[in-house]
Amino acid sequence: MSGITHDYMEEYIRGLIPDSQGPLKTLEEFAKENAVPIVQKETAKFLEFMVNMKKPMRILELGTAIGYSATLMYEAAGTKPHITTIERDENMIKYAKENLGKLGLQDKIIIKQGDCLEILAELEEPYDLIFMDAGKGHYNHFLPHCLRLLEKDGIIIADNVLFRGMVASKELVKRRKITIVKRMKTYLDLVSSDEDLITSVIPMGDGIAVTKRR
Ligand SMILES: C[S@@+](CC[C@H](N)C(=O)[O-])C[C@H]1O[C@@H](n2cnc3c(N)ncnc32)[C@H](O)[C@@H]1O
Repeated sequence: MSGITHDYMEEYIRGLIPDSQGPLKTLEEFAKENAVPIVQKETAKFLEFMVNMKKPMRILELGTAIGYSATLMYEAAGTKPHITTIERDENMIKYAKENLGKLGLQDKIIIKQGDCLEILAELEEPYDLIFMDAGKGHYNHFLPHCLRLLEKDGIIIADNVLFRGMVASKELVKRRKITIVKRMKTYLDLVSSDEDLITSVIPMGDGIAVTKRR
């Protein structure tokens, strides 16, 4: 049970998605073997769709892990975008660098090592698309930076916003996750109530929020 959608629905939608090929397939297998969390199958397809539609030239990602979603976005954009991706875990960075090196993407996908909040504060160049997929308990803190860094027509895609359903239902909340859930609710309240923003929350995967300026 994902706590977000019915299992039969998830299974059906995943069944519609063709298996990945080439580098993405290899990265998916690596993630599975090494229990590295990467975007869920249907979320990957949504991300691919959004990036292909938006055709961004500059992408910012929070949470590199092994470089799977960064590679997916690079391939989907078709614009040879410049991607900056932030990761604090040294092991993940090692894997991601190896993977991106094998694909010849090391000059296109730049990994910034450190905590998202600290790196975000240092960034100045604008981005057409920002993908938030790290530090679930801090999206509300990342938001002001992301809005500052977002191009006029840019899009923020935030993953895990419903957090296994806990954000929407008190009954599902695990005690040790209360702070993350509260902060995620703050994030969703902020992006939903700001009159300058349009936000759509989608009960797919672990919950996705897409935000743009009006
Ligand atoms: C869900 S994984 C990212 C998966 C990746 N986007 C993908 O789908 O291929 C989240 C990653 O964010 C990193 N992370 C978590 N909190 C962070 C923070 N505050 N700053 C930087 N990295 C963080 C974790 O080490 C982890 O590798």
